[in-house]
Amino acid sequence: MSESTTIRWEQDETGVVTLVLDDPDQSANTMNAAFKASLTAVADRLEAERDTVRGVIFTSAKKTFFAGGDLRDLIAVTPEHAQQAFETGQGIKRDLRRIETLGKPVVAAINGAALGGGYELALACHHRVALDTRATRIGLPEVTLGLLPAAGGVVRTVRLLGIADALLKVLLQGTRYNAARALENGLIHEVAATPEELTEKARAFIDAHPEAQQPWDVKGYRIPGGTPAHPKFAANLPAFPANLKKQLNGAPYPAPRNILAAAVEGSQVDFETAQTIEARYFVELVTGQVSKNMIQAFFFDLQAVNSGASRPKDIAPRTVEKVAVLGAGMMGAGIAYSCARAGIEVVLKDVSLTAAEKGKAYSEGLLAKALSRGRTTEAERDELLARITPTADPQDLAGCDAVIEAVFEDTALKHKVFQEIQHIVAPDALLCSNTSTLPITGLATGVERAADFIGLHFFSPVDKMPLVEIIKGGKTGDEALARAFDLVRQIRKTPIVVNDSRGFFTSRVIGHFINEGVAMVGEGIEPASVEQAAAQAGYPAKVLSLMDELTLTLPRKIRDETRRAVEAAGGTWPEHPADAVIDRMVDEFGRPGRSGGGGFYEYGDDGKRGGLWPGLREHFTKAGAAIPFRDMQERMLFAEALDTVRCFEEGVLTSVADANIGSILGIGFPGWTGGVIQYINGYEGGLPGFVARARELQAAYGERFAPSALLVEKAERGEKFSDA
Ligand code: NAI
Repeated sequence: MSESTTIRWEQDETGVVTLVLDDPDQSANTMNAAFKASLTAVADRLEAERDTVRGVIFTSAKKTFFAGGDLRDLIAVTPEHAQQAFETGQGIKRDLRRIETLGKPVVAAINGAALGGGYELALACHHRVALDTRATRIGLPEVTLGLLPAAGGVVRTVRLLGIADALLKVLLQGTRYNAARALENGLIHEVAATPEELTEKARAFIDAHPEAQQPWDVKGYRIPGGTPAHPKFAANLPAFPANLKKQLNGAPYPAPRNILAAAVEGSQVDFETAQTIEARYFVELVTGQVSKNMIQAFFFDLQAVNSGASRPKDIAPRTVEKVAVLGAGMMGAGIAYSCARAGIEVVLKDVSLTAAEKGKAYSEGLLAKALSRGRTTEAERDELLARITPTADPQDLAGCDAVIEAVFEDTALKHKVFQEIQHIVAPDALLCSNTSTLPITGLATGVERAADFIGLHFFSPVDKMPLVEIIKGGKTGDEALARAFDLVRQIRKTPIVVNDSRGFFTSRVIGHFINEGVAMVGEGIEPASVEQAAAQAGYPAKVLSLMDELTLTLPRKIRDETRRAVEAAGGTWPEHPADAVIDRMVDEFGRPGRSGGGGFYEYGDDGKRGGLWPGLREHFTKAGAAIPFRDMQERMLFAEALDTVRCFEEGVLTSVADANIGSILGIGFPGWTGGVIQYINGYEGGLPGFVARARELQAAYGERFAPSALLVEKAERGEKFSDA
């Protein structure tokens, strides 16, 4: 019998065995090799000592109950060993089944997060009680990493909740529930308020059900709500694939499709066969590129970014007590809310008290909505609002230890507002600008302490968007960078760090995506196909509608200013085929975008978007203009990827993790790619494949697709763009 190293066996005099999950080598319990061996050892011992065991309680000595699959292992899985490692009759699946069919009551006493493999372990128990704490989260989020739960998660949720609820509430969205909502949705049986109550309830179940069985092991069991073989269910089934397709908009995410197939096929066969089906669909996902991309980005890169890989070391962390937000417009109002929500005192300043109060009213609106949905309490709302002081008086900014400026995008105005307050705020206050395009080094000339001046680029809507791009100006000091980083983490957002340049990383790169879409319209390609190509590539926003939102005049203004600056410095500014389309839309047709009443789309009097403007087909159509759909998608993806590489070459970007996370969270680069650099690394044929494809696009669509020397060199050396 092998030994259990990560699961402690504690048996009391009444015969109840508590299995304490406690990996000695890690801060959280995961499904690593030691756990697998331990689970087998525990199952062996339970079977051997069956007669002296009255019941079993799984619980954990860690803060989380169980963290799930070990992503380091999963990202490295190759087709060669996947089959053998994950097929049924093997490892965890088999051992959980042995424990579940032992004929003794087994309870999961969930004392913290039980996500993924953690919840799958709990699903194999006859009874699930969860401690109601802030840290308790329950669900199967595998889909968000391009995977499916393969330790019986699909098989058991379908049998517990029925196919429809299993898919919609648990499997397809990967929702993470708190204890109360997990109870409401049938994921667990009971909630406990204290650790003592958790144990009591677990023991009470064992006392009351000495011969517990899973519902699906009881004779005559039927899947709740029926199976697809049942005529009533069959009538609804066709809607599932159709809805899924609509939801994904054609984007290449394989996990939802495999989850659906595993659930439906597995519901029509016995438990063991269903586990085999689940395993097969999992193996297909785990050996595919998309899950590797998503694990890299959403786990490893995100962890690197948030843990401060780009923060200067050796500078003590600081927290902000009181922040001045200058400008209470769309961005300032959102920034004020996010800061106040994190417990920071906010002085919100605008040109008049009325304007500042309007900015505060934005928080009131958000909180009213949160209150009506049960996401906050009246007391929390009142406390948050009390932290925001609207004002028009610069003197009210006394004592602020950070300033975030969000007035109109105008250098002279930004200089003026900083001059007005720089001697009123704390003498060492951190000075931040939320400019979306203006170089930070230039803005810093307007303040006396350029070393303390930095860019803090938020995204709209601020309360929802998780990313903040931190921009280091030419004179920004490391201390300011560290403080800006800490401030972004304090308000629970994700910071990426870039060096100064016009448009920084995000605004600059997203411009290439938009330009490519607009250029295709200019080539006479059907505008609806352009929109569809963006959606199917996995972009969350369609390209022409995004251009309308931004207004065509703003990027045009930036383009013209940049061209003048480049030419004044003796450089040349390459024409982009989108330029002429934008100029005609604005000058000839008077269609500057949504706020101007019309752009690529038509808008109703209420501002609601209607159809694409019919004039596009009239003015930009060329007979027979059509290009392969794949080219349309890859022109957008490559345009962004190639400019990101230029950002590295120019020193704007220095971190691959920052580039990947910034592209997904900031500018909607498709999540299935794992981010813009992972897209290059994971491209079919690796870097040589990417370079070859760029050359094809270059030959067909123009010099802007030429791969840079750096890419070509690395491809020739057989390297990836990055090893991260
Ligand atoms: P906005 O027009 O909604 O708000 C600007 C506010 O600044 C107005 O309330 C105005 O009254 C106020 N203001 C003007 N002069 C002032 C002064 N002397 N003192 C105090 N307040 C003054 O503009 P929005 O969209 O909020 O943008 C603000 C900044 O954020 C700009 O630099 C913009 O480029 C940047 N930004 C905008 C994003 C967006 O999606 N709109 C995204 C990221 C950055």
